[in-house]
Amino acid sequence: MSPAEAAALVAEHARAVEAELEALLADPEQPGATEAERRLFAAMRHAVLGGGKRLRPFLVRAAAALGRAEPAAVLRVGAAIELVHCYSLVHDDLPAMDDATTRRGRPSCHVAFDEATAILAGDALQALAFEVLARPDWPGSAELRAELAAGLARAAGAAGMCGGQALDLAAEGTALDEAGITRLQALKTGALIAFACEAGARLAGLDPERLRLVAEYARALGLAFQITDDLLDATGSAAELGKPAGADAVQGKATFLRLLGERGARVRLEAVRADASGALDKLGPEALLLRATLDLVVERRH
Ligand code: IPE
Ligand code: IPE
Ligand code: MG
Ligand code: MG
Ligand code: MG
Repeated sequence: MSPAEAAALVAEHARAVEAELEALLADPEQPGATEAERRLFAAMRHAVLGGGKRLRPFLVRAAAALGRAEPAAVLRVGAAIELVHCYSLVHDDLPAMDDATTRRGRPSCHVAFDEATAILAGDALQALAFEVLARPDWPGSAELRAELAAGLARAAGAAGMCGGQALDLAAEGTALDEAGITRLQALKTGALIAFACEAGARLAGLDPERLRLVAEYARALGLAFQITDDLLDATGSAAELGKPAGADAVQGKATFLRLLGERGARVRLEAVRADASGALDKLGPEALLLRATLDLVVERRH
């Protein structure tokens, strides 16, 4: 698949995800809502709609393409993961965390609204993610919904994204070694990316051996994704990225770039890319979309 074909598929899926998210978010003009409630709904919509690569929902689709899955289930599970991701960005940008004033080419949620509203919008987006995953208006058994809700909770929580964010903040200005940085990144970014892949594979009904290969791919992809994010922070422009550039160095973030320099970080990136590619080789030709995603993740400009 050519990069242009892959990009077109990602864009097409992003449009479907956007429509699903729009339908899941409350209308800020709903009758009976007070000014304060309307402000919260508007902040949630600001954080979710009209931006973002929608990579995680696409990963659900790409992994689901390894077998047969209901398109409505792929869309709903992807939307739930995207809601958690958007919440994580709102909180990541807060003054108490990365203190970033732009996101997806617009003011960050706490800048467009205020800090308390941004905290609540993040909280409410996380709750909404679990609501839309658990509720029976998409094709999936009660058992599947419970299993996915537990998996998303693990990926988002203290043993996943939140734990990684705690490590990220604690490591500012310190010198973590390779193992420490790998662990931090596997949790803060890798856990949700891995869950997106595993959820897609689960929807596709893969056998345990193929599930294991998808997990192997996903682990490496998550690391490749964050190393690329760190490289872009150092080499991209704020205009391209839609978020501040150069902030990691100022804040002394523990990254491979800081530990190994740009060349060393690129060597490390190629190594994890090869790990991901090796898992795809074993999955065979049905892993076409997962391979295209790997290329997009590593070669992206934002
Ligand atoms: C940014 O994720 C946050 C990280 C985990 C590094 P994305 O680069 O996927 O952000 P959006 O969703 O496209 O804005
Ligand atoms: C954030 O990592 C990961 C999250 C869990 C949100 P970064 O702090 O590097 O993400 P950006 O660069 O702000 O998007
Ligand atoms: Mg951060
Ligand atoms: Mg940040
Ligand atoms: Mg970053």
